[in-house]
Amino acid sequence: MRNGVIAFRRDGTLALMNDEAYRIFGLKASEGDVGRPFADVLRERQEIIRVLSGAFELSHLPNRAELRLKELDRVIGYTLSQVRDDGGVPIGAVMFFKDLTQVEQVEERERLRDRLASLGEMAAGIAHELKNPLAGIEVMAGLLRRQVPDSKDAQSLLADILSEAKLANAIVVEMLEFVRPVRLQVERTDLGEVIQQSVTMAESKVNRGDIAVLTSVEPGLPMIESDHHQLSQVFTNLIANAFEAMNGKGRIMISAMTAVIEADPAFAGIHPPTPAVLIEVADDGPGIPGDLTDRIFNPFFTTKVTGTGLGLAIVRKIVDAHDGRIDVSSTPDTGTRFRVTLPVSSASGWFK
Ligand SMILES: Nc1ncnc2c1ncn2[C@@H]1O[C@H](COP(=O)(O)OP(=O)(O)OP(=O)(O)O)[C@@H](O)[C@H]1O
Ligand SMILES: [Mg+2]
Repeated sequence: MRNGVIAFRRDGTLALMNDEAYRIFGLKASEGDVGRPFADVLRERQEIIRVLSGAFELSHLPNRAELRLKELDRVIGYTLSQVRDDGGVPIGAVMFFKDLTQVEQVEERERLRDRLASLGEMAAGIAHELKNPLAGIEVMAGLLRRQVPDSKDAQSLLADILSEAKLANAIVVEMLEFVRPVRLQVERTDLGEVIQQSVTMAESKVNRGDIAVLTSVEPGLPMIESDHHQLSQVFTNLIANAFEAMNGKGRIMISAMTAVIEADPAFAGIHPPTPAVLIEVADDGPGIPGDLTDRIFNPFFTTKVTGTGLGLAIVRKIVDAHDGRIDVSSTPDTGTRFRVTLPVSSASGWFK
């Protein structure tokens, strides 16, 4: 990762600012920048001006401090030091900095992964322990049903017991599915086919009612290297969520098109963007309240009475295993749009 450098003289005029600095600050270099007051050149970045302005006032200059550039949604790590002449008089200052945004995102992902790993072990243990007693309940309720063929009340109670036990079992199976490490069986996959199957599977899980489902697959969309079965699960979960949110009416638009995944900004220009496909699942349902969008991918986060909250956690896990990206944008009352970007061929091998 390259460093940004910015240097200025005691009188506040800019002495140097390298390309990386312009890039990180999201500014365009222009001819006369050097020699102009830095506060002028950086006027769109007030946070930086504030830091630089303190260069001659603070007795202790920050070494390895962090600064969040709110408008750019970027974090930089920086060191600020004075430049002195032979007599020790400050004649200028220089700031070295790095774009930490990517680093922060990676760390965040790692923290999440660790948390999920220990949570996963626990959940796997519990799920495993629950499987046997649940199977016992099912079998015994079935036996009892045969012993009281004539009692209507008992039959209906036993039917309830059986269906509740089945529901509990389904949760256990889903939980085990979630905690199991993803192992991809990669094959050349036709996304049009995956989408079609996912619609059918979502319909069998959730009542579709009068919801219209429109799909549009860009002609000539490349086949991708992926795990067909697991990708179907991704789109089944997204479509099932939309069905559940929309309550039997409205429209879901599923579209697939060619796209690219941009390289890490620090390497842009060195690594070309990766060829990819983008699949969007957009509904015109009630949307997700803004304060919840950060949490919907968390395991066990649900707003539904009978939900386990694992659907999107599994989705994210599978997309990650494909080196893909997923994001969501949602406006209350207008709808929700999930965007899944998958590389045409996965860089990091076939098994994870
Ligand atoms: N298309 C959507 N529209 C509105 N809200 C949504 C949509 N998709 C997901 N959500 C919200 O995200 C939450 C989490 O979804 P997720 O699929 O992880 O769990 P769930 O559907 O509640 O349960 P499960 O999928 O395990 O049965 C949902 O409870 C719902 O509040
Ligand atoms: Mg769901």
